[in-house]
Amino acid sequence: MTESGPTDLKKRQRAMWALGDYSAVAAEVIPGLGRRLVEACGIGPGQRVLDIAAGSGNAAIPAAETGANVVASDLTPELFEAGRRIAAARGVDLRWQEADAEALPYADAEFDVVISCVGVMFAPFHQAAADELVRVIKPGGTIGLINWTPTGFIGQMFATMKPFAPPPPPGALPPPQWGDETHVRSLLGDRVADLELRREKAVIDRFRDGAEFRDFFKAHYGPTVAVYKAIAAEPDRVAQLDRALADLGSRHDLGNGQMEWEYLLVTARRSG
Ligand SMILES: C[S@@+](CC[C@H](N)C(=O)[O-])C[C@H]1O[C@@H](n2cnc3c(N)ncnc32)[C@H](O)[C@@H]1O
Repeated sequence: MTESGPTDLKKRQRAMWALGDYSAVAAEVIPGLGRRLVEACGIGPGQRVLDIAAGSGNAAIPAAETGANVVASDLTPELFEAGRRIAAARGVDLRWQEADAEALPYADAEFDVVISCVGVMFAPFHQAAADELVRVIKPGGTIGLINWTPTGFIGQMFATMKPFAPPPPPGALPPPQWGDETHVRSLLGDRVADLELRREKAVIDRFRDGAEFRDFFKAHYGPTVAVYKAIAAEPDRVAQLDRALADLGSRHDLGNGQMEWEYLLVTARRSG
């Protein structure tokens, strides 16, 4: 890697997540996911908790509501403003800190619990991010992750957008691989014990139909906004992607205004 390469890449990724309004996705579409992760990890009063790629605090805020001492870290500090507002409205206090999941600014074994809700999966170099995540947990501490699976709805959304997106940076792995059991086992290796991998489904009731899903993501979800930006000068391709995303949404519509989005829930203890 060149001296400027990683910096440029991080700047581009941060700019992508600052597009649209990710906090609306977290609050309106997947608010239950953060709570599910906090519950699965048994987070409670006095624990030192790090949320990696916390965004606007979808998991960090419910963690703080249990009485834990929470640090919400993310590459994109633009998202913290919404997070601070939500935390204040819910009467909880947590620390917000800009941090790259692949180079965390924390000491070894600093936290009792490290969580990431559909977050760390978006750091492009998976092994570097996994190594950092494990490094900052104390021996015996808890790891909890929620990752979209490759075959679930969001994995399929990224597959649908791929032909329209600029090529990924060299060496970057696709985010939904973090939703594959074999990949997660290999990333965490023998540094964890009691590894549990559960496929679950989030019930999404925000969209009346596939077109409404597409329009919401096109306006709010950074990676989708970025793909449309990249093809903005090509109306035929915009129309193609419009159709493909609406079709994807319609195929997953259960017919009652609900969709199911599969994710992998990962829990483990740090060995040692
Ligand atoms: C889908 S959002 C999830 C946010 C939040 N955890 C939630 O459940 O709503 C993905 C987040 O990953 C963050 N992210 C992407 N790459 C990152 C990196 N290298 N280090 C830290 N955060 C990163 C983005 O800024 C964004 O907030």
